[in-house]
Amino acid sequence: MGLMGGSLALAIKKHKLAKEIIAYDSSSNAIDYAVKKSMVQRGETDLSLLQNEGTKENDLIIIAVPLSATESIIQQLNPSIKGMVTEIGSAKNHLYKICKAHCRHNNLQSNFIPCHPLAGVENNGIANAHEDLYNDKKCLITPFETSSPEKVLQLAEFWQAIKSVIFYMDVNQHDKVFSHTSHLPHLLAYTLIGSLASDKNLAGFMNYSGGGLRDFCRIASSDEKMWSDIFTTNKDQLIKSISRFQNFLGEARHALQSDDKEGLFNSLCKSRKAKQLLEDSHGGNRDDEIDYIVSPCTKINGEIRVDSDKSISHRSIIIGSLATGSTQINNFLGAEDTINTLNILKILGAQITHSDDYSSIKIKGDGLDGLQQPRNFLNCGNSGTAARLLCGALSAQKFSSQLYGDSSLSSRPMGRIIDPLTQMGANIYASNNNNIPLLIMGNRKLSAITYKMPVASAQIKSAILLAGLYAPGQTIIQGGAGSRDHTERMLKNFGYKVSSNKNGDVSINGKQTLHASHINIPADISSAAFFMVAASITPGSDIVLKDVGINPSRTGIIEILKLMGGKIELINQRQYGNEQTADIQVCHSKLKAIDIGHDLVTIAIDEMPVVMIAAAYAEGTTKISGAAELRVKETDRIAAMVDGLTQLKINAKSTEDGAIIEGGSVQGGTVDSYEDHRIAMSFAVAACGAKQDIHITSCANIATSFPNFAKCASTVGFNIQLKEANSSATIL
Ligand code: S3P
Repeated sequence: MGLMGGSLALAIKKHKLAKEIIAYDSSSNAIDYAVKKSMVQRGETDLSLLQNEGTKENDLIIIAVPLSATESIIQQLNPSIKGMVTEIGSAKNHLYKICKAHCRHNNLQSNFIPCHPLAGVENNGIANAHEDLYNDKKCLITPFETSSPEKVLQLAEFWQAIKSVIFYMDVNQHDKVFSHTSHLPHLLAYTLIGSLASDKNLAGFMNYSGGGLRDFCRIASSDEKMWSDIFTTNKDQLIKSISRFQNFLGEARHALQSDDKEGLFNSLCKSRKAKQLLEDSHGGNRDDEIDYIVSPCTKINGEIRVDSDKSISHRSIIIGSLATGSTQINNFLGAEDTINTLNILKILGAQITHSDDYSSIKIKGDGLDGLQQPRNFLNCGNSGTAARLLCGALSAQKFSSQLYGDSSLSSRPMGRIIDPLTQMGANIYASNNNNIPLLIMGNRKLSAITYKMPVASAQIKSAILLAGLYAPGQTIIQGGAGSRDHTERMLKNFGYKVSSNKNGDVSINGKQTLHASHINIPADISSAAFFMVAASITPGSDIVLKDVGINPSRTGIIEILKLMGGKIELINQRQYGNEQTADIQVCHSKLKAIDIGHDLVTIAIDEMPVVMIAAAYAEGTTKISGAAELRVKETDRIAAMVDGLTQLKINAKSTEDGAIIEGGSVQGGTVDSYEDHRIAMSFAVAACGAKQDIHITSCANIATSFPNFAKCASTVGFNIQLKEANSSATIL
């Protein structure tokens, strides 16, 4: 019943996770305090009394003691225990050794799941316990080889229920990582203060220290008993971390001694950049919120090239990293989603270099087996494509890896890829409800399967295809009619044989070689779609969108707008490798309502939000059906669009698998984008012909797919202002 145990008791109580909370502590003061404060129902100072009560299957035993006390507690555990046991300390190899020595019973071996919540603060003790200590904090689950996968997931659910963010980690990797990121920094803080205080002359100076020393040494006020325990328990790893640090410190000293100002400067520069990385990888969610205020405009005019295709960009670097030889990619999309994929591939050891704006990429590929065990979690940010496609490829590697993302991605369905990949032999642990984070234990021996997809999804198809590259024999995927086929085309660009038929069935034979290639990426039709609709609804408009990909599995937006009476022409059609492109001219026209069914929805899936804006400006009532997939995109796009349109005084109603939208007069108002890039951009388009300004909240996520949106929009006549949320400062 210290800070950690006490806070857990309070969190369990707050979230109503247990019928009864029972404490053990060797000190009766701690037990009395916990009972008096209603943190627990009862407690014991003699563990054997609790042991005698036995445990039931749904009991959870949490060991939250200093590391030096762990062994004696584990020794006393009832070997045939029925409940689950976890231990929350910050060194795991030592725990593994203790468990190996004392947990000989099968039950205890499979029911023991260690974890490590990253929630410590300097002020220890039960009096500092609070119910939200674990809120939004990371918790690492570090299963033993003997831990039952089912129990691992149950423990993950427990931590999620008290609002922690779950990650999985291998025991060895855990101790290595924490010796660098936690144990060494604590030791440095203690030793720096110690060395200053040991010199009488220097000790007086401490009164004159500014924030620097205080910031650096904050953690030296932690509990020295606990930290000396941790240091000694993880001593082997910590000694290695100290030596590494000493080398760096030695280099800095040498640079000073030899007046190597430039060397010192360069090394500080490198460190500052690395620190940036630390901040970027801190969590999945963004904190740079931006609102858009978009005023009505007179007309949309001019010629622009919108940003490059996101789907093709992801595929070019994933497949390029699995190919043999030097691949050159031109016009790569430098957006957050695709940069996340690029960073993940780099962490996986892919040799990728790029120009400052990412438009030109070079990959030196080492073939299908060229990737390496990552030293870090793999952050997919907001990108479902990154998570699902990479999961396919990672399932077949010789190492384990872990994918995570922001809160939107963490609630999107992953069961749809886990099911087929598991059938192929993949070992994937998912969190609550088949969500990210995913722990992927690579399996070199995947088998080819024939799989019928429950939804026509390019992401599912691509995940299976990428895993299928490693499976001997023929992998066949059915049920993909209409879904985008960029993976198939990209594989062919790299010399891989892919067969497909008219029904959308695709098959490949595994174990062929991907040969390096030269890829040119067209502009993204999904980004161009915003301007197609803006020009269609704004009188006097005439716009040319250059170099747009017109893959037939993506041109639903053109078909829909034409059916609505839009004036659209494709000019200068040409081939970019295996993809087709064209310049697209769009002029204003009077739109009329139509019915849009599943087939059209499939080939315009990402454009449906902006199609709903076109519907709001069309004469009559537009009915959209067969679009249930929109509910599991970055947000529930049916709900988000109907909500926003209603704010703008348009009659819009959602149905289970679509929406009914009555065209009318679009008014001004405030609309929530639900942090979804395409919802945000769609309402910016709505403002072009609206009666007053539209204020769109939380638009920073536009950078996930179309970082130059505001620039392109302003160039062709949008009246757009960007504001930092909760501030009056205008950015553009
Ligand atoms: C994508 C496929 C689509 C699409 C997504 C990108 C891809 O998802 O909505 O934005 O790059 O494969 P589904 O395949 O799940 O429909």
